[in-house]
Amino acid sequence: MRALWGALAFAASVFLGLTSARAGGQPLDGRSIVAGAECAACHAVPDVAAPIRTASCTGCHQWVKTVSANPAQRAKAMQIFPKWARYEHNVKSYFAVPDLEVAFARLDPAWMRAYLADPYDIRPTMDEGMVRLGLNAAQIDAVVSWASTRAYKPAPSPAPSAANVPKGEALFAERGCVACHTFGKRHLGPGIPAAPDLRWARDRMTDDMLAAWIQDPTAISPKTTMPKLGLSTAEALALRDYLVLANPDTPGASASGAPAGATATAAAVAAPRWDDVEARVFGKICIHCHMDPAQNEGRAGPGNAGGFGWPATGIELQTYEGVVAHKDQILAAIARRNVEDPRDHLAPGEVPAKVKRPELPGMPLGQPALPEADQALVRAWFAAGAPR
Ligand code: HEC
Ligand code: HEC
Ligand code: HEC
Ligand code: HEC
Repeated sequence: MRALWGALAFAASVFLGLTSARAGGQPLDGRSIVAGAECAACHAVPDVAAPIRTASCTGCHQWVKTVSANPAQRAKAMQIFPKWARYEHNVKSYFAVPDLEVAFARLDPAWMRAYLADPYDIRPTMDEGMVRLGLNAAQIDAVVSWASTRAYKPAPSPAPSAANVPKGEALFAERGCVACHTFGKRHLGPGIPAAPDLRWARDRMTDDMLAAWIQDPTAISPKTTMPKLGLSTAEALALRDYLVLANPDTPGASASGAPAGATATAAAVAAPRWDDVEARVFGKICIHCHMDPAQNEGRAGPGNAGGFGWPATGIELQTYEGVVAHKDQILAAIARRNVEDPRDHLAPGEVPAKVKRPELPGMPLGQPALPEADQALVRAWFAAGAPR
């Protein structure tokens, strides 16, 4: 039933897209597609208003953090929300999502087109990832054409030279780049969540843009969180040449140990009940995209009412009844996430596997796969007949 519903909605959107592209020769409008696909629920987007807090993943998560840090507000929140202590303990994602104004200013349009069709992990110490979108190629083209009208025009620079690489490698450590960035296996993080793994920089930006960015990122976009480091033009070029020409798979002079990955504790729960699966999976994670509109002033979330370019599924995972009604789809969707994980979520130095874009994305969309212990909990609960 849902597959049919989805297929119909998809066919309708393609049809409408083609019709509007032809009627009067009007091209698809990238800004409207971005506004309709709820990119602003996670990103700051130029020319698109931020949604209200209750519709904003980043806005509400930041609000939980801000309220928790203020003793008076926190005391009040504890009275209004019985589960507040659990909330503040659990909320850890969407604090450093990149600002799209900064991304549009520097990223190469061809790279963006490929990434939006098939995203992968760029920032090794950020748990959450870019969601897989339900947009077709024509819609992605329109988004990228609109985005590239905001590109910065860098001054021309000399072509990269291998003679510069040793100097660039020394500067990379001396000038503190290592404090924030991973660079393939040459320098393994930890770094900061907002800073990209520089292994991808040569694909994401032109040589001219890279030289200009390293010398003064704030000139390219004042909203960037990378500081201007006061480098000379010659130093910026040496660093650019190191990033463009050095093999990211060879451990370099500045290589250090990767942070120990968190190992999942496989604590088996003997007889799980609704409260257990609600607290660890459905109420903690899935609810944020699959809401019950009756409990949320009509909002159903992108996983239920459609969003990020996907049609509506009608899948509500806030209530016991909603979860039980979708048992088979839930088990299939969380297992599919295991397959996507090696591409979307990598340890520093790891390279994404080349996985073909699956027909349906795994859940939770854009987040790492559920730990094996939590998947086992959900399976055990369904197998026991979903006890309350
Ligand atoms: C649920 C949250 C979420 C939504 C919705 C979302 N994104 Fe993202 N996006 C992210 C995260 C997180 C990253 C950073 C991923 C990384 O670095 O590995 C990202 C990265 C990106 C990047 C690369 C930027 C950079 O600096 O690396 C682009 C471009 C982008 N998103 C565009 C979009 C567009 C266009 C939409 C809407 C059609 C959208 N995103 C919707 C979470 C989201
Ligand atoms: C109205 C506030 C609010 C909004 C809006 C919101 N969240 Fe959350 N989010 C929370 C709270 C509170 C928790 C902790 C829930 C718990 O522990 O029971 C949470 C937890 C999560 C978690 C698990 C913990 C973590 O941080 O990784 C994920 C994943 C998540 N939310 C994703 C999203 C996504 C995606 C959106 C946007 C589509 C979103 N949330 C919108 C308040 C919100
Ligand atoms: C204080 C932390 C910090 C330091 C130090 C720092 N960066 Fe960055 N860098 C960032 C952040 C954060 C971004 C992402 C910018 C954004 O999206 O606003 C970034 C982005 C970049 C990019 C763009 C990469 C891409 O794929 O988009 C390059 C190239 C870069 N930095 C190089 C350097 C070099 C070279 C140095 C040393 C001279 C350096 N950075 C020092 C935080 C830092
Ligand atoms: C970041 C938002 C987000 C989160 C978090 C999320 N979903 Fe989804 N979900 C979506 C979107 C968007 C769709 C529609 C895409 C589609 O049709 O496959 C969807 C579709 C689904 C589907 C139907 C399509 C399929 O793949 O079979 C199931 C089942 C599902 N989600 C289960 C879950 C479960 C279980 C969780 C928690 C572990 C979860 N979702 C968390 C956004 C989300």
